[in-house]
Amino acid sequence: MKKIILSVALITSSSLLIADSNKEIKQEAKIAIMKMGKALKTNMKKNLKAGGVLQAASFCLQNASEIEKKVNDSYPKGITVKRVSLKYRNPANKPSIDEEKVLKQIQSDVEAKKEIPKMIVKEVSKNSYKVYKPIFINKDVCLVCHGSKQVRDKEAYKLIKEKYPNDKAVDYKKGDFRGAFVVDIVKSK
Ligand code: HEC
Repeated sequence: MKKIILSVALITSSSLLIADSNKEIKQEAKIAIMKMGKALKTNMKKNLKAGGVLQAASFCLQNASEIEKKVNDSYPKGITVKRVSLKYRNPANKPSIDEEKVLKQIQSDVEAKKEIPKMIVKEVSKNSYKVYKPIFINKDVCLVCHGSKQVRDKEAYKLIKEKYPNDKAVDYKKGDFRGAFVVDIVKSK
């Protein structure tokens, strides 16, 4: 009897531990994504306002990778953030096989009209996690550079296509699943 109680207690406390550590992981990921999202968004907004879509596109083409690198350098050790997509524009944002599986699962859940969690935590190995935050085409302005031929800005898209001749990130509609922020977290313990 004692044995049973003890093992029940052990099981409950260890699952509590998992729930707790995921909470902590999610919190770390959230902070990291907010910083990256803000950096990308602020620059996009500033350039759209100052010079319209063409300037925003050209700024993005020249500086997105550098902005990402700078923000990544500012994180605590063991944390990196990137964006991935099944239909990627920048080949640097091509998902790995693991990441592709998760993106495809989200895509099919979206199609099945299931509720999509704000964040998905995957344990890669002991002390190593990937946290996914789905990204949607949530604003009309996204379509100017990611929409169909009819709605895209022609001039801006010409620049985009020059830099990314194999661009897949078009023909989206408002509300579509676009990809995800992926936070890699490696715990040093
Ligand atoms: C002015 C043009 C422009 C607008 C507007 C724009 N994007 Fe992009 N987007 C780009 C370019 C160029 C890239 C590739 C460069 C990069 O960021 O790595 C990109 C890349 C991305 C990526 C990374 C994955 C990939 O395909 O490489 C995501 C996710 C993304 N955009 C989502 C959005 C969303 C959501 C919106 C609306 C809120 C938006 N974009 C608006 C031009 C634009």
